Amino acid sequence: MRMYDIIVKKREGNALSEEEIKFFIEGYTSGEIPDYQASALAMALYFQGMNGKETATLTQAMVDSGETIDLSEIEGQIVDKHSTGGVGDKVTFIVGPLVASVGVPVAKMSGRGLGHTGGTIDKLEAIAGFTTEITKEEFIDNVNKHKLAVAGQTGNLAPADKKLYALRDVTGTVNSLPLIASSIMSKKLASGADSIVLDVKTGSGAFMKTLEDSEALAREMVTIGNELGKNTVAVISDMNQPLGFEVGNANEIREAAEILLGSNVEDLRELSLEISSHMCVLAGAFADPAEARRALEENISNGKAHAKLKEFIEAQHGDGAMIDDLSQLPQASYHVEVQASKSGYVSEIDAESIGVAAMYLGAGRQTKEDKIDHSVGITLKKKIGDKVEEGEALVVLHSNTGNPEDSIAKVEEAYTISSKETKSPTLIHNIIK
Ligand code: URA
Repeated sequence: MRMYDIIVKKREGNALSEEEIKFFIEGYTSGEIPDYQASALAMALYFQGMNGKETATLTQAMVDSGETIDLSEIEGQIVDKHSTGGVGDKVTFIVGPLVASVGVPVAKMSGRGLGHTGGTIDKLEAIAGFTTEITKEEFIDNVNKHKLAVAGQTGNLAPADKKLYALRDVTGTVNSLPLIASSIMSKKLASGADSIVLDVKTGSGAFMKTLEDSEALAREMVTIGNELGKNTVAVISDMNQPLGFEVGNANEIREAAEILLGSNVEDLRELSLEISSHMCVLAGAFADPAEARRALEENISNGKAHAKLKEFIEAQHGDGAMIDDLSQLPQASYHVEVQASKSGYVSEIDAESIGVAAMYLGAGRQTKEDKIDHSVGITLKKKIGDKVEEGEALVVLHSNTGNPEDSIAKVEEAYTISSKETKSPTLIHNIIK
């Protein structure tokens, strides 16, 4: 078999066979196929696409290129959840304990973040002592005992994806549906859960800006999951503004914990309950999402979900007192208001600019080497649809410098105030099974 023939076959719009896809992935991972041929194939794939079978084969080949995590020692049907990424997205810290509180095991592999705010691990590290550097035995033990554990992505999961993604990044071939879907799903499949709920974001602050593209990506990923034997459901949720009111690290943990204590931040609570319900149904714990939702809501009211968060934090060496008393989480020294320059209604909040403003404060990394400041962040005082008077606060910046000029400018850029009344955006656009 020759790589040249595979490139030409795809360039002409033909479907690749299983052998050809495996040949490419194995050869590229081992270094036998050079970057220039892999780039040519990526570009052919970008223009010609892949059918469902080809995409599933590509995903499996990327899974097989490295280690897979064996979670068979965990009792019960394990569920995982993955978000395609958004600003203020702290849903994991809510759904993890919530789902675990009804007895469904959640075993999560997570990463750190580059840009905007931190990733799941960075945010959890706002809690003193908390670590995701636990052994595989500890991870499995914790899931069996507490029904929830979060570990850092270790070892060599889907190395073919790592190499191919780096190549796509510099060859203009990231934005291909089958390549994105197989990239995300290969990492999820290698991390061993039985079922996966995908939170596919849509809107100005999302990877996919239009509902049509987000639905197409979701369909592609659900097909891959189901073809490869994992129950998969995708929730398409709005990212035309940050989720909830808090953006940062410690303040996102605080807002998540407050939801588990019964606070009603509408979009955040609703999305978390929706995702949790689907996780419970996929795990076979409840017959339908409505029944699951009743049990989950009950565990918020009776305090079991919040107690589970503390139990999980302590099991991973974190300071549980910070969860009992959220004011003990790291706090910044200065709290600076950014005020509205005119009266009207908030019609747009560019989530990405809010994320960048938080990064300028130190909540995220601009380079891999940057250290995160867990105490800084942004509290939104106004969201889309809210009425605002000139001089009223749009956000409060929690900063460790007195005059965070760059962040102020970025927030001013993010908000659009219009004279016309605006409705708040629909939160859940679609569920794809
Ligand atoms: N995230 C991934 O993991 N892979 C992609 O291709 C795009 C986003």
